[in-house]
Amino acid sequence: MKVVATKTGLRQEMEHSSRPVVLVPTMGALHDGHLALVRRAREIAGPEGTVAVSIFVNPIQFDRAADLESYPTPLEADLAACRAAGVDVVFTPEAGEMYDGDRSVTVTESLLSSRLCGATRPGHFDGVCTVVLKLFLLTGCDAAVFGEKDFQQLAVIRRMVRDLDVPVEIVGFPTIRENDGLAMSSRNVRLSPEQRQDAPRIRRALLSAAENFRQTGQEILETARGEIEKSPMTRIDYLELVDAETLQPVDEIKKPAVLATAVFYGDVRLIDNVTIFPNRELKALAR
Ligand code: PAJ
Repeated sequence: MKVVATKTGLRQEMEHSSRPVVLVPTMGALHDGHLALVRRAREIAGPEGTVAVSIFVNPIQFDRAADLESYPTPLEADLAACRAAGVDVVFTPEAGEMYDGDRSVTVTESLLSSRLCGATRPGHFDGVCTVVLKLFLLTGCDAAVFGEKDFQQLAVIRRMVRDLDVPVEIVGFPTIRENDGLAMSSRNVRLSPEQRQDAPRIRRALLSAAENFRQTGQEILETARGEIEKSPMTRIDYLELVDAETLQPVDEIKKPAVLATAVFYGDVRLIDNVTIFPNRELKALAR
């Protein structure tokens, strides 16, 4: 496994890497969710292709300095996990390597980004789009794998690739969960034991609301809100029912919709979502 920290080093490495090249962009603190994406990348690349992982805590997508500073960075453990997972190339740049001090170009997706995480974290998706496009250009990847846990991020990146004719196939992957249902996240380690014990409530709330999907959108939201707010430890950042494609709010389930939430436990912000299909089994239940 090659580990490179410079853009020049990465370009050189990629020049003689065999295709297809499949990229898994991450911010490190790798858990089984990330590693499932890596396994998917290997399936797509095949034994002869190249699996690349980037580990970069991208400062320009953080809206709160405290969140950036407290983001875990266990690089040695991450590299060991990549090695064990059969990754070929790991890119671990410093912020100064990725961005010039006077950088002045940003990639903005202006429709899907405006709600949900975009509304409560201004500039977040500009930071995501900008770094992801840079990573696509630097690696010259053929495909890239993203988790559905960050379903808005996945939608925004698909839109960026479509609108800018970026020649990269975007592959989505279902959310990997702890045994008690909590979506795996690098931020989970920052929960206190009490918060960690309570946090599966988020998933429970989304599922119990979604199970009654013959209710109106308003009732779905009320059911989920009630369950999340039953705990004095939670503070809802947002809770919305949106069209799965346009990400615009809906109040009826006529087309696939996503019930999505971001919940604070103290200063730790967790996100989760379930997809609700009209007149069909809940896709969420299979996850
Ligand atoms: P990060 O939060 O490290 O996540 C990296 C990738 O792992 C994302 O595609 C995310 O959706 C996926 N992922 C995280 N938790 C998951 C889980 N429990 N199950 C399945 N997939 C999961 O998302 C980012 O980093 C950044 O915004 C990035 C795209 C790297 C740009 O900086």
